Amino acid sequence: MNLSINGESIEFDGDANMPLLWALRDVLGLTGTKFGCGKGLCGACTVHLNGEAIRSCLTPVSAAEGAEVTTIEGLAADGDHPLQKAWATHNVPQCGYCQPGQIMQAASLLASNPKPSEQDIVDGMRGNICRCGTYERIKKAIRTAAGELS
Ligand code: FES
Ligand code: FES
Repeated sequence: MNLSINGESIEFDGDANMPLLWALRDVLGLTGTKFGCGKGLCGACTVHLNGEAIRSCLTPVSAAEGAEVTTIEGLAADGDHPLQKAWATHNVPQCGYCQPGQIMQAASLLASNPKPSEQDIVDGMRGNICRCGTYERIKKAIRTAAGELS
């Protein structure tokens, strides 16, 4: 099947039922997207399907056919998406493992709600777990990216 990943057309001839996460990491070498729980509970595997955040551990590759998949590697050409810059400004990551998923979730949130309230951010990011507890910095970075903080 033909997949479009980060703007690139890719022929995939593996199992159509394979989780998209496996295809991204193990077949295509896009290891920025992380495996956490494998059950849709942590958000480490979050990517965009047609601009919307999805859990790639629960999404079969077949669901991506004819859609545009964006991973953390493709969010911005030079890693300079406003969220990535805000993440650096606020030194958000601790171990870093959850952060690609956090950023992809936040990017989807800002795409649909460019000026989220504090509660919108809490609600929008609720499904993304950080075992290092970086939640406050994540919220600040999202507000910075949204232009609410200097
Ligand atoms: S690995 Fe997909 S939600 Fe946890
Ligand atoms: S920074 Fe360690 S899990 Fe989030």
